[in-house]
Amino acid sequence: MSPQNDQQAHPSLLVPEEERAALEREAADLPHLSLNARQLCDLELLLNGGFAPLSGYLCWKDYDCVLESMRLENGALWPIPIALDVSESVANDIEKRPRLALRDAGGTTLAILDAEDVWRADFDREAQGVFGTLDQAHPGVRYLSRETGPFYLGGRLRGIRLPRHADFPQYRCTPGELRAQFHAMGWNRIVAFQTRNPLHRAHVELTTRAASENGATILLHPVAGMTKPGDVDHICRVRCYEHVLEHYAPDSVTLALLPLAMRMAGPREALWHALIRKNYGCTHFIVGRDHAGPGVDGRGEPFYDPYAAQDLLKTHQAECGIEMVPFQEMVYSLDEEGYLPIDEIPENGRILQISGTRLREMMASGEEIPEWFTYPEVAEELRRYSS
Ligand code: ADX
Ligand code: MG
Repeated sequence: MSPQNDQQAHPSLLVPEEERAALEREAADLPHLSLNARQLCDLELLLNGGFAPLSGYLCWKDYDCVLESMRLENGALWPIPIALDVSESVANDIEKRPRLALRDAGGTTLAILDAEDVWRADFDREAQGVFGTLDQAHPGVRYLSRETGPFYLGGRLRGIRLPRHADFPQYRCTPGELRAQFHAMGWNRIVAFQTRNPLHRAHVELTTRAASENGATILLHPVAGMTKPGDVDHICRVRCYEHVLEHYAPDSVTLALLPLAMRMAGPREALWHALIRKNYGCTHFIVGRDHAGPGVDGRGEPFYDPYAAQDLLKTHQAECGIEMVPFQEMVYSLDEEGYLPIDEIPENGRILQISGTRLREMMASGEEIPEWFTYPEVAEELRRYSS
């Protein structure tokens, strides 16, 4: 397969400019719902086409198929259920008034939802289906049981406007905008890199390798929505990414922020990430070790095998419409004085590694971060953040 970046305008759920005013007038007379942070992330990606082919929140049938088989009812691959969680009182009113205005926290109306379906959520079933566990140590499971409304709504959306972001507007690109940018730059093979962490030398090596092995340019596409609780916030991360950009060859890379609310669903999430990046016009997608891994369970065991995400994407490769670029863990070789995938290190090769946990300890205690691991500007940025 040789995927090509198609330059077609990407479908979004926003109504044409000239219909906006009428939709806003209509919304003014409707009951409204203020969305929380996670719901705003989902809505943004629904509206901007990042979640294509979804045309709104999943109705029960689609939701059920997604849990059972990672597919919509029509057979399209879709691994993560996207329905709108609401309180019991909102659910009770839906039959009488199924049309709702969806607002951000500041009261701006973003979209109108025509609710077609309402049902009581079964969180255990959803957790088991999506995460493969009921363990409260899993952040996705915890979010379901503690923060998710007890009923779900499904139905079509008509978008009025995207949520506004005051921070880093220059990096907030919709799928249509990124596709246009790729087209303008003459890029037609683009490898996307997902991350929720600061980037260091290993990541620059990994992405540069992925690009050169596939004759592609690089989209650094970090998540600036919701990540794993305790992660470095995206404000600090973007500053780090800006430093890291300086270490790539000119015109080989671009940076954009993805307003995704991660679920930390490991393999299913990796497949979701790939489908989203296809919507953003990318042709290749990097999956390394423990992609979207939620850490360890209540007994200290990892929730997912570190390469299960790669296996799942391999199984669905033909259908994905985006090519996976799998990577083994990149480690620093003392003998080569550079980074290599761990499967390319000879048997008695000497390697260096710093785990995420160890890095946090080093930051907290003010210990020097070695140059083989990261760039001095990045270390400095992280030090400022953790102090
Ligand atoms: S994730 O939750 O977004 O997956 P993270 O930002 O840590 O977390 O990783 C982003 C991507 O880079 C994942 O595909 C992950 O497997 C990969 N990755 C991160 N560090 C390494 C490494 N040292 N070697 C190989 N792949 C890595
Ligand atoms: Mg990781």
